Amino acid sequence: MHVESVEQLKEEAGNFLQKLTIGEKATVVGLIGELGAGKTSFVQGVAEALGITESVTSPTFVLEKIYQLVDAPFGQLIHIDAYRLDGEHELKQLDWDTLIGNPKNLIVIEWADRVMRALPEGTRIVTLTHSKESRDISYGSK
Ligand SMILES: Nc1ncnc2c1ncn2[C@@H]1O[C@H](COP(=O)(O)OP(=O)(O)OP(=O)(O)O)[C@@H](O)[C@H]1O
Ligand SMILES: [Mg+2]
Repeated sequence: MHVESVEQLKEEAGNFLQKLTIGEKATVVGLIGELGAGKTSFVQGVAEALGITESVTSPTFVLEKIYQLVDAPFGQLIHIDAYRLDGEHELKQLDWDTLIGNPKNLIVIEWADRVMRALPEGTRIVTLTHSKESRDISYGSK
């Protein structure tokens, strides 16, 4: 699907969120896209739709940011940026197995392709592409 603007991307992210349902384990969403493709903007759209009012920025240096949620089906939004992770083993530092085991967690990971092997089966994959002509978004799962 074409995305004409950041506003439309965020709206689309909100629509995507509304369709997620809580499972037996965490809901994991992997974002794939080149530098500047709109990964963080997508997370901002999700965060806004969850009622998060503080500004969401890329957790490039802290690796992970956690937002507590009230009045939402999920208990917390966990935003991870895998850009600086040196492979799957570094996710373990974030207590990964505990995070993905908790059904109240909504985990959104930028640069998911860098840690694909650590992502559980059923992870939703959101791919963002951009060229001079157009920006697109497509959905799949692991
Ligand atoms: N669909 C869009 N239309 C127009 N501008 C967009 C769109 N998506 C993102 N942008 C703009 O592109 C820039 C980069 O977006 P963003 O930070 O979300 O990308 P990113 O994929 O997270 O980048 P990084 O790889 O650095 O993490 C921002 O200025 C954002 O406003
Ligand atoms: Mg980003």
